[in-house]
Amino acid sequence: MKTIIEPFRIKAVEPIRMTSREEREALIRAADYNLFALRSDDVLIDLLTDSGTSAMSAAQQAALLSGDESYAGSPSFFRFEAAVKDLMPFAHVIPTHQGRAAEAILFSILGGAGRMVPSNSHFDTTRGNIEATGAEAHDLVIAEGLDPESEHPFKGNMDLSRLEGFLAEHGEAVPCVMLTVTNNAGGGQPVSLANIRAVADIAHAHGKPFIIDGCRFAENAYFIKLREPGQADRSVKDIVRDMFAHADGMTMSAKKDAFANIGGWLALNDDALAAAARSRLILTEGFPTYGGLAGRDLEAIAQGLKEIIDEDYLRYRLRTCAYIGERLTALGVPIVRPTGGHAVFVDAKRLLPHIPPLQYPGQALAVALYEEGGVRACEIGSVMFGQRPDGSEAPAAMELVRLAIPRRVYTQSHADYLIEVFEAVVARKDALGGYKIVWQPPALRHFTAKFQPLVAT
Ligand code: F0G
Repeated sequence: MKTIIEPFRIKAVEPIRMTSREEREALIRAADYNLFALRSDDVLIDLLTDSGTSAMSAAQQAALLSGDESYAGSPSFFRFEAAVKDLMPFAHVIPTHQGRAAEAILFSILGGAGRMVPSNSHFDTTRGNIEATGAEAHDLVIAEGLDPESEHPFKGNMDLSRLEGFLAEHGEAVPCVMLTVTNNAGGGQPVSLANIRAVADIAHAHGKPFIIDGCRFAENAYFIKLREPGQADRSVKDIVRDMFAHADGMTMSAKKDAFANIGGWLALNDDALAAAARSRLILTEGFPTYGGLAGRDLEAIAQGLKEIIDEDYLRYRLRTCAYIGERLTALGVPIVRPTGGHAVFVDAKRLLPHIPPLQYPGQALAVALYEEGGVRACEIGSVMFGQRPDGSEAPAAMELVRLAIPRRVYTQSHADYLIEVFEAVVARKDALGGYKIVWQPPALRHFTAKFQPLVAT
């Protein structure tokens, strides 16, 4: 059969509250045109993030009941630890309440003024946790990774010669080398196994630990299977184990590729580093056998890790993004190519060339998608990145809108509806106007800024 179907049936449903266009216009006005200020039951299709928004399986729901809430030594921890080690054979697995807590703990030890941490692209919480210690975060992704039109199969790859040069120049200041799989900042683009191995070899040749941010490891592994020569006949599990065999540690948000609503971990091979991390964990998260999570969350993660490497699921998962990408392309909507694992990124600068970057074309598109059809997406452009610490403003490199796809939540008719919403927005795109910011906090303004339209909508 040609159609790649959702490889599941639906046993529990969550109604979507329907709204009219008039209601949505009033709601977004009352939210000062900031989509983060909307109540989620006023949203029909919520594509703000794929993080923590997965639908759990019946087996995960059942596992919740086995959660043992003991403070120390819970069997739920040992099931969680065994499930992680089955895929990522690290010596120490330290649970945290989400990914950024693992990052905060790691960089409280490895960070500090004068230190420099290279990666393909740091996710913003990783960068934030590095910079909060006084260290610097550096992005060394290949040039194709910054070109929305490049069809390179592994646009998340690290630029190996830049990494070599970086270590030669700043080696003393580098506490570890990182790599994000898939590369969220670049559109969920994968990293090849060859690149993972080469980054590990370079890091090790310089005596540096190699740490993977593994949030979307299963999507990355399936891209390797599909695209990397010689990998087609291997199981995803085998590829995952290979990816992590070259690393000395990982940070993880279980809110992504573990189908959990909350959770994460820090895994390490080095005994001394792990001991320091556990001491910090006790201060900020909890005892090492629960680390900021309930026993039931550990159970949900353990079961989720067994399900995420299912190849029928991963085929459907990657196809969802590709399908939306193909339909948008057919409508003439420019997107970051090729589509990644968890999201489709729309190039608002090219779709709305009449709106200058500092009138926020991405915000204009995101607001229009909500007004038109109740779709909530996320601006990743000058609203998110244009604010400088001194209060001035500069345009971001790209003006993107991210359509992040929650796992196992929406069906193909939701995707078709999304395309119709785009069709209606594209039909009136020349009439869309920009926005001005009328209030903003000193940093991370995208979450709370207030906007006003420059043209009556
Ligand atoms: N690393 C990557 C690559 C991420 O995408 C995220 C979260 C984190 C780390 C932090 O994990 O949220 O559990 O603390 N990304 C979400 C997103 C928020 O919408 O892309 P967390």
